[in-house]
Amino acid sequence: MIDDFESLRERVIQQLEIIFNHTDVPSPLIDAMRYGVFSGGKRIRPILVYLSCRALGTDLALADKPACAIELIHAYSLIHDDLPAMDNDDLRRGKPTCHIKFDEATAILAGDALQTLAFEILANDIQLTAETRLSLIGDLAGAVGASGMVAGQIIDLTAENRSIDALSLENMHRRKTGDLISTCLKFGAILSAADSEVKEAMLKFGLALGLAFQIKDDILDVTGDEHAIGKPVGSDVGNEKTTFVSVYGLDEATCKLSQLLVEATAALEPLGSNAKPLNDIARFIINRNH
Ligand code: IPE
Ligand code: IPE
Ligand code: MG
Ligand code: MG
Ligand code: MG
Repeated sequence: MIDDFESLRERVIQQLEIIFNHTDVPSPLIDAMRYGVFSGGKRIRPILVYLSCRALGTDLALADKPACAIELIHAYSLIHDDLPAMDNDDLRRGKPTCHIKFDEATAILAGDALQTLAFEILANDIQLTAETRLSLIGDLAGAVGASGMVAGQIIDLTAENRSIDALSLENMHRRKTGDLISTCLKFGAILSAADSEVKEAMLKFGLALGLAFQIKDDILDVTGDEHAIGKPVGSDVGNEKTTFVSVYGLDEATCKLSQLLVEATAALEPLGSNAKPLNDIARFIINRNH
């Protein structure tokens, strides 16, 4: 199973290389973009796109460009998230963050460029019908824009140094991280032209998994090992962030995580045994140490 994740990870890296080999971007912008994309990372989101296609019996080749588009957006979001004006972190994936390796302006522009590249890749994906491309672009834009990930990020920043209630905390996490993760599952459903029951199942799974992903990230900020997570331990505490750990404590946050795994697994019941690879990755996300 881990071998399978590894081969999908290699697949997306190869696909990203193809995309970068066809761009004509000046230095140092291209170097900063490459640094943000190729300096490691678990590649969970593209793997989710591939696994959801596999669960629905769809040729993985159709998922290549959509999986890359999602990873490009993720890479942009991390570069901007680490900036001094945001989380002000200097370590990511065990290496200096993009603005430390290059400079702030270059990091901002690299993030901007990765974001638009993602949409360009989807718009130009000749394997897909115009209707499918439009559907993917619309869903992705909605998930990462001002009502999705960017909304989550501004809520995160404005919640520093003050407490927010449990509902607002969940809303923040669903938006800043959950929306992109659930889009991976939606992509699988769209690429597979799934019926409404399957679409609904994938969406429910994605919503539970997306929230679980950020809760686990909050937990690792406290319990993780810097070498394993490749980012500073205690960054959230230092920034006085409101997290699932700061609001609920470690035990209750861990308990919520287990409940979400049960919820995610139950959501996929309509898929029967085809759900196995997705349930496997859900378990991996919840049990990971990095
Ligand atoms: C980190 O995401 C940012 C969050 C949304 C919590 P990942 O943990 O997927 O980061 P990489 O890509 O593996 O480094
Ligand atoms: C990041 O959340 C969410 C996005 C990048 C959109 P965090 O700020 O907790 O992510 P890490 O811990 O820096 O990876
Ligand atoms: Mg942040
Ligand atoms: Mg951060
Ligand atoms: Mg974090």
